[in-house]
Amino acid sequence: MSTRRIRLGVNVDHVATVRNARGGHHPDPVRAAALAAEAGADGITAHLREDRRHIVDADIERLVREVPLPLNFEMAATDEMVAIALRHKPHAACIVPERREERTTEGGLDAAGQHNHLAPRVARLREAGIRVSLFIEPDRRQLDAAVALGAPVVELHTGRYCELEGGARTAELERLRKAAATCGTLGLECHMGHGLSYDNVEAVAAIPEVMELNIGHFLVGEAIFIGWKESLTHMRRLMDKARGINGG
Ligand code: PXP
Repeated sequence: MSTRRIRLGVNVDHVATVRNARGGHHPDPVRAAALAAEAGADGITAHLREDRRHIVDADIERLVREVPLPLNFEMAATDEMVAIALRHKPHAACIVPERREERTTEGGLDAAGQHNHLAPRVARLREAGIRVSLFIEPDRRQLDAAVALGAPVVELHTGRYCELEGGARTAELERLRKAAATCGTLGLECHMGHGLSYDNVEAVAAIPEVMELNIGHFLVGEAIFIGWKESLTHMRRLMDKARGINGG
């Protein structure tokens, strides 16, 4: 068991989803981000989708300006999104697939199949000092592709692990463990995310190579019942417990 503290990146997309359901200003994802900082989050994650279905451009501007935490800007590898990232210079940019043809069969970015499209965009982000990560499946071919693209970080997609049950889930967890260990040997920093909840986070947080988890939907949903800060604090406690950190 690793004792190194794992970072919690709080994804505020679905605070914006609720706001947008009424088209006004409440609840404000930037306020959620500021409170997340007080509750012990290490970073804020927000996905500016091409259709602006939750986070909008003004949210990104305010997250960068008003929130005292590093922003992980999730984005499709389009020229529009690269230009926005270069304008705001977030701490990190995580490239995610938005269209079907950009995905692997299991849902992560097809970094191997999209090399020629991704290479110049990754390079432009890196040249601007933005830490680039690629949201990929826990698959050796995709890890090698991340190295070939010069991405320093990968975020391994935990969606399948979270959806599966029984032996299939155990097998997927093993695939995540193996990919995390491979990150270690390839010199890639390993993050994970998607679908994580109180019920499934500990096994993932216990993988020693994992440096950061990005979690959103469950935290926003749980906040309805126990409050936003409490929702985050409990997740933080479970992550610390998985790392054998006192008080977790
Ligand atoms: N990481 C990435 C790359 C994502 O795109 C998302 C949101 O889909 C998350 C993490 C957070 O996932 P969730 O909202 O299921 O916790």
